[in-house]
Amino acid sequence: MCGIVGYVGPQTPGPRPLEVVMGGLARLEYRGYDSAGVALVTPQGLVSAKRAGKLGVLAADLEAAPLPPATAAIGHTRWATHGAPTDSNAHPHLSEDGTVAVIHNGIIENFIQLRAELAADGVAFSSDTDTETVAHLLARAYDGDLTTAMRTVAKRLQGTFTLLAVHADAPDTVVGTRHDSPLVVGLGEGENFLGSDVAAFIAHTREAVELGQDQVVTLTPDGVEVVDFDGNPVAPKRYTVDWDASAAEKGGFASFMDKEIHDQPHAVADTLLGRTDAAGHLVLDEIRVDETVLRQIDKIIVIACGTAAYAGQVAKYAIEHWCRIPVEVELAHEFRYRDPVVNAKTLVVAVSQSGETMDTLMAVRHAREQGATVLAIVNTHGSTIPRESDAVLYTHAGPEVAVASTKAFLAQITAAYLLGLYLAQLRGTKFPDEIAEILDDLREIPAKVQQVLDEAGPVREAAVEMKDVPSVLFLGRHVGYPVAMEGALKLKEIAYLHAEGFAAGELKHGPIALIEDGQPVFVIVPSPRGRDSLHSKVVSNIQEIRARGARPLVIAEEGDTDVLPFADRVFFVPKTASLLAPLVAVVPLQIFACALAAAKGLDVDQPRNLAKSVTVE
Ligand code: M6R
Repeated sequence: MCGIVGYVGPQTPGPRPLEVVMGGLARLEYRGYDSAGVALVTPQGLVSAKRAGKLGVLAADLEAAPLPPATAAIGHTRWATHGAPTDSNAHPHLSEDGTVAVIHNGIIENFIQLRAELAADGVAFSSDTDTETVAHLLARAYDGDLTTAMRTVAKRLQGTFTLLAVHADAPDTVVGTRHDSPLVVGLGEGENFLGSDVAAFIAHTREAVELGQDQVVTLTPDGVEVVDFDGNPVAPKRYTVDWDASAAEKGGFASFMDKEIHDQPHAVADTLLGRTDAAGHLVLDEIRVDETVLRQIDKIIVIACGTAAYAGQVAKYAIEHWCRIPVEVELAHEFRYRDPVVNAKTLVVAVSQSGETMDTLMAVRHAREQGATVLAIVNTHGSTIPRESDAVLYTHAGPEVAVASTKAFLAQITAAYLLGLYLAQLRGTKFPDEIAEILDDLREIPAKVQQVLDEAGPVREAAVEMKDVPSVLFLGRHVGYPVAMEGALKLKEIAYLHAEGFAAGELKHGPIALIEDGQPVFVIVPSPRGRDSLHSKVVSNIQEIRARGARPLVIAEEGDTDVLPFADRVFFVPKTASLLAPLVAVVPLQIFACALAAAKGLDVDQPRNLAKSVTVE
């Protein structure tokens, strides 16, 4: 949830540590934006500044009252857990003597006991946070070596944490540790970096190092040393980030969300790239699971949260159809608490953009403990979920910054489809020419998404016109059902609007009672060329709601004139094979939510109460 940056560089004090950390925080602000703060190691000791509110509030303070030159720095953007988003609860937190500064992402679950112990020892607390206990514990454990102090303290902590610390007596050192929360190292020349994710330092280096669970990293200008909590050296895994700083910039769009919606043709195309051999057979190199195991799988369970779970629900229809394997889709936070039936013949597919969602990570661990094979579909390299899974299939959507997920959704569906086709190839449930035909259809999706983007003017106009409606409903059927729920989620999270997605077939079982005069209802209409009578059933639904006063806003395939007499507005999308249709049908809904939130004057990228990656349960 929180964003964390650390930097250590040349030992001649200068402005760079603060510049690097503030630049990194700007790129990480999507992770949390309740408050922000920095601490610098300077020849005068530690100095820190922190303010409630977005990063801009802190930046204005620093402009008005500049901090002295430094050699190392840490910085933090917060998503509040313990304590309100106030100046005093903002990170960093300092020890009483001001020698140690700490920033934290996660929750220290035993902080009440630790706080009581420290209070009994005379410590006066200056915040309501769980994090402040760590600053005091580190100062007490420090005996000239911050790494050892961090190891000692980390062993006492329960819960989830990424912690970074600096000490006034160690101008050339930043120490970090992680337990169930993300932290990556960036390798520079004569300088090194730490960040919650690579966006923190991508402006300076693309060379990165993954940190594993329960490790402590010591960063100096020329070195990165990693040990476990017992002090045993660890050889960390190095990798090169495959995108650059421009990918995490708005590129002329009004918001990251708008930009990321427009990135979607590339997100799909890049996720499809290089997946077949010369003979046209699917080759998913990243899937390191033994083919015999995959042939014996008798059930697939997709675990994910939010938009990623809706991607899983779309994929269920296709994978079951192509592979004839039952597929369950379960919210990750429900999965491990309901005693799921999982065994060695179960393939659990964990879908996550960030690769850090705590609920999904815990479900992955639970599934593996039960003997399942876990395959992760993840967008972020170096993240925790792929590291803890048996295999990974990366989506190549590039960095997703807006809190509302868009391009990751399309990339996740694409990757899950590749997985389904790969299993169909392996298990022989589809002929090679059938698989090749579906792959050809998939390769046409980027151009179709581009067409929807190019023709989106009327969707934007409708959104502006409807900016004051109190509620919008969404109906879909078959693969259109998860699309309806995704459309509703987008509106809830960025426009703060009541929105609900329903299976169109469920309408008469209750939701139709919500229909009154003027109620806008998006209806995702299946292709008339698709499954049996689905198209005519959904067209009937449009008539039913219209008869009760609703304003049907119809997403239909181009040429589908059947919907014209009953729709308030029709947004046509290109003809697409039924199972692939969500990849184009969802795009107008994303654009609608983005335009409506912008018309309301809301912060599209940083909606209230939310954070991009949910790293606490
Ligand atoms: O990083 P993940 O894909 O695991 O995140 C899962 C959800 O938290 C995420 O999709 C969330 O629902 C988005 N804000 C939706 O736009």
